[in-house]
Amino acid sequence: MHTQSDFDPLRDVQAGGGPGMRSFIYGHLAPESFPIAELLAACQYSLREEGSLALQYGPEQGYGPLIDYLRAKIERDEGLSLGRQHLTITAGCAGALDAIARLFTHPGDAVLVEAPTYTDTLHIFRDHHLRLFQVPVDEEGLIVESAAQRLEELRRAGERPLFLYTIANFQNPTGVTLSVERRKQLIDLARAHELRIIEDDVYRDLCYEGDVPPSLFALDESRETVIRVGSFSKILAPGLRLGWVTAAPQVIERLAHCGLRSMGGGANPFASHVVANFCERGLLEPHIARLREIYRARRDAALTALAHSMPPGVTWTHPRGGFFIWLTLPAPLLARQVIAAAEQRGVTCLPGDIFFAERGGERNLRLAFSYLPPDDISQGIAALGDAIRASL
Ligand SMILES: Cc1ncc(COP(=O)(O)O)c(C=O)c1O
Repeated sequence: MHTQSDFDPLRDVQAGGGPGMRSFIYGHLAPESFPIAELLAACQYSLREEGSLALQYGPEQGYGPLIDYLRAKIERDEGLSLGRQHLTITAGCAGALDAIARLFTHPGDAVLVEAPTYTDTLHIFRDHHLRLFQVPVDEEGLIVESAAQRLEELRRAGERPLFLYTIANFQNPTGVTLSVERRKQLIDLARAHELRIIEDDVYRDLCYEGDVPPSLFALDESRETVIRVGSFSKILAPGLRLGWVTAAPQVIERLAHCGLRSMGGGANPFASHVVANFCERGLLEPHIARLREIYRARRDAALTALAHSMPPGVTWTHPRGGFFIWLTLPAPLLARQVIAAAEQRGVTCLPGDIFFAERGGERNLRLAFSYLPPDDISQGIAALGDAIRASL
């Protein structure tokens, strides 16, 4: 089984693969997309005008103006009116998921995850000794009927999962989006089984085609069933380590008033000041619009190159947003064999099996198209096509 520790951390720092390798490994941001001058101005403002607050321990729930900016954004984008009690700032989505696992589960608890799902979330859940059970995903996202069956089987075996983790929009690693119909069915299923949904919504703003469906959090009018996590990592910069949670007030209260937050004074107060200043100056919306253009062009380059370069029998998803395309190889090809052949041709990506909590993915490849410019994407996919042909 391939694990993260198989990778050399130095090789991994910039999108993986080593010198001269075209790497589709990581969903890293386009390096030229960072608004460095604007963030520098926001840093200067935060230090000059607010330094004694921005450098101090911050409030446990997060910096008020950033919470208020996010409330206004959510109201504008999704028509949801949330109070301050519904939102807390976190150290990225990763910090939120780790805190949810730490504060709302016990070692040995059962959690449902999508098959496949984001491998680092599996890592976090395993850090907390959770037992993971998988539910398959198809072109319309999580198969809710399979979730119902899995819950029934688990119930018969005396198991009662506490949470179901889903990436409903432009999923990592498949790029698929959960249909609205299934979203409603999933909420009904969760209510019937007293299962809470963790909705990882970090790609919501990166939509290149059509509309983004309403979030599970928005569809759950009770506000009791869904804990939704967002992040500035994909829409601004992951190095800021800033994200947020929207959930029922008692969940927010628990997340905000834990030992880590009390001692640490909230999550990243200085970064919160800088980002709040950036957002209050109206810079985030045009920045997101620019990101959509950059990543739409990369997605289109990848889909065009796949159509030109893949031999018959290879299939792939058509993401409407996000960073990832999921390839399925024809039998008897195996992903790891194809990646070895691809690396000899100067291109690399991730094998599908690392995205499964239990089993699967031996014939799948994940391509992250966010980091490489369009010409490299085209050439890299052409080389991958050659590697697949040579492995047949
Ligand atoms: C689905 C998903 N959730 C969370 C993250 C990480 O988010 P953050 O940087 O906010 O911790 C990623 C990054 O790849 C992701 O794909």
